[in-house]
Amino acid sequence: MRAEMERGRDASLRPAIIRAAVLGAIAAVVGVVLGLLIHWFPAQGSTQAHKIDTFWDVLIIVSVPIFVLVVTTVLFSVVKFRMRPGEEDLDGPPIHGNTRLEVIWTAVPATILIALCAYAYIVLHDVEKAPANGREMDVKVIGRQFTWQFEYTGKDGKKFQTTQLYVPEGRSVRFNVVSEDVLHDFWVPAWRMKIDAVPGITTHYRITPVKTGHTVTYPVVCAELCGLGHAFMRQTAHVMTQQAFDAWFAKQSNPSAAAGGATAGGGAAAGGGANVAAGKQVFASNGCAACHTLSDAGASGSIGPDLDKVLASQNQAFIKQSIVDPNAVIAKGFQKGIMPETFKTQIKPPDLDALVKYLYTVTHK
Ligand code: CUA
Repeated sequence: MRAEMERGRDASLRPAIIRAAVLGAIAAVVGVVLGLLIHWFPAQGSTQAHKIDTFWDVLIIVSVPIFVLVVTTVLFSVVKFRMRPGEEDLDGPPIHGNTRLEVIWTAVPATILIALCAYAYIVLHDVEKAPANGREMDVKVIGRQFTWQFEYTGKDGKKFQTTQLYVPEGRSVRFNVVSEDVLHDFWVPAWRMKIDAVPGITTHYRITPVKTGHTVTYPVVCAELCGLGHAFMRQTAHVMTQQAFDAWFAKQSNPSAAAGGATAGGGAAAGGGANVAAGKQVFASNGCAACHTLSDAGASGSIGPDLDKVLASQNQAFIKQSIVDPNAVIAKGFQKGIMPETFKTQIKPPDLDALVKYLYTVTHK
């Protein structure tokens, strides 16, 4: 009697199951199409980017139907099998265990998962491998509260640092990432690659930059919460033609040839001139330009106060205090704790004096 009743119920449910299956299939197709149409990522700024984007598309194609299947089954059950208190046993006693069902719902997801992991491993291996022709340049990336610093090594082995990232188009670049204080994360979304900057170790990734249309600059972002200034730890990556990059590189690795050579040389005897020139160098190499505006240094940062304005009426003692103890006096419109307190130990005393003198000189003209 009960078996007959259940058979009757199953038959009466069939149209509803078919309806749910059709609706689910439509939702899955719409979901996948939408997922593929949406532009989730910025322009593809590296040769690695399209492989990662393709992997993303595959994940959408596989996971959206599974999500729809689960949601449809849950909704269907909620609607069709809902019961009021006391009605729980109307469709017979609860079922315990169904080996065949359990094997299926373990084996199918396991197979899908292993297949996706294998594919992910292949993609990762592919985007991380060194270029076949061995043509690659190294850039050291230094993370610090709250700026990135980029260090290049010239042909003569001499190093120089910049606050903006410059890379040649179409050439593999290997980034060696370090941190001077806390965890940061070096990320250029357009390149799709990202890695933590960890104090005490060097981490790496490589990409081959490409230009996308007329876009030649991409944002460099810190993707690890590293303090109050985390959100401002943003700089710019410039992708240049090999020719433009070579010219830039030559100028950077031999700055005295371009300008200022006379001042630096002659100033050593005179004292004052060399001091100010050295101070400008200290300003550049400590990433001050990332946060501050200072016209003499071509800096236009807006995270911290505009130095042209706030230092114009201050003496050297005040400037020095603001560097070593930044929270002592806070400029109007800014808040405590943004400027790192590490410059006290990071900048050596003679460099600090040079920096103070430089800042005083260029803001009191
Ligand atoms: Cu550095 Cu967030």
